[in-house]
Amino acid sequence: MSFYKHMYSPKLLELFRNPKNVGEIPDADVKVTEGSLACGDMITIFMKIDEKTRRIEDIKFLSYGCAANIATTSIMTEMVKGKTLEEAKRLTFKDVAEALGELPPVKMHCAVLSIDGLRSAIRKYEEERGLIEVPELDESFVRSRLRRIMNPKAGRDIVSTGIVESIRVDNGKVEITLNLSEDDEFKDYLEEEIHERLDRLPNVKEVKINLVESVKKDGYDP
Ligand code: FES
Repeated sequence: MSFYKHMYSPKLLELFRNPKNVGEIPDADVKVTEGSLACGDMITIFMKIDEKTRRIEDIKFLSYGCAANIATTSIMTEMVKGKTLEEAKRLTFKDVAEALGELPPVKMHCAVLSIDGLRSAIRKYEEERGLIEVPELDESFVRSRLRRIMNPKAGRDIVSTGIVESIRVDNGKVEITLNLSEDDEFKDYLEEEIHERLDRLPNVKEVKINLVESVKKDGYDP
C-alpha cells in the first residue's frame, strides 16, 4: 500500500476503497462492456435513462481493472448521474483525472477507459432507440463492433486475436463464426457479448453465431 500512497491522490485512494455506484442495474436501459486496448482491463456500465428528458437517472458499474480504473469510473458515474446524454458526452478523461486531484501519466488510460465505457453506452442507447443513424450494416461495420469486445485470455480484442474466424452479412442477417471450441471457458461470455452488441441495432434482423468446430463437423469449412 505504501507504493499506492506514493503514486495516488488521497481522493483516488478513498474511491478505490469505497467506490460509489458499484453494482448492476437488472432492468438497465443499456449495458455495455468496454475494454482498454492499452492494458486489456474491462468495465461494464449499466444506465437507466429517462426517455423523455434523456437524463441519466441511474448509472452503475463493474470494474475488472486496476485501482485507478475503479476510482476513475466511480467518479465518472458521480459526475454524469442526473445529467442529460448531451451533457454527459462532453465529459472528458481529463475532467475525470482533474476531479481526482491528480492521476499519474501511466494511469491516464484508466480514465480513458471510464470515458470510453460511458460514450459507448450512450452511443448504444442512441443507436438502439433510433436517435442517431447507425452506419450501413456490412462486414466492416460488424468487424468494427467486434473489435470492442475483449478476448479475456489475451487482453486484446477478439478480432485481432483470431477468435473471429469469419463474418457474413446478408440482408440484415449476421452470421459470425468463432474460432472457439464448444467447451471453451469463455464461449458463453463471448456469445453473450456479441449478442449484446448487435441484437438490438435497428438494422440487424438476426445474429447467428457458429463455432468453427461445429461448422467443420457439419461438413462445411469456411
Ligand atoms: Fe488497466 Fe488501469 S491498468 S484499467
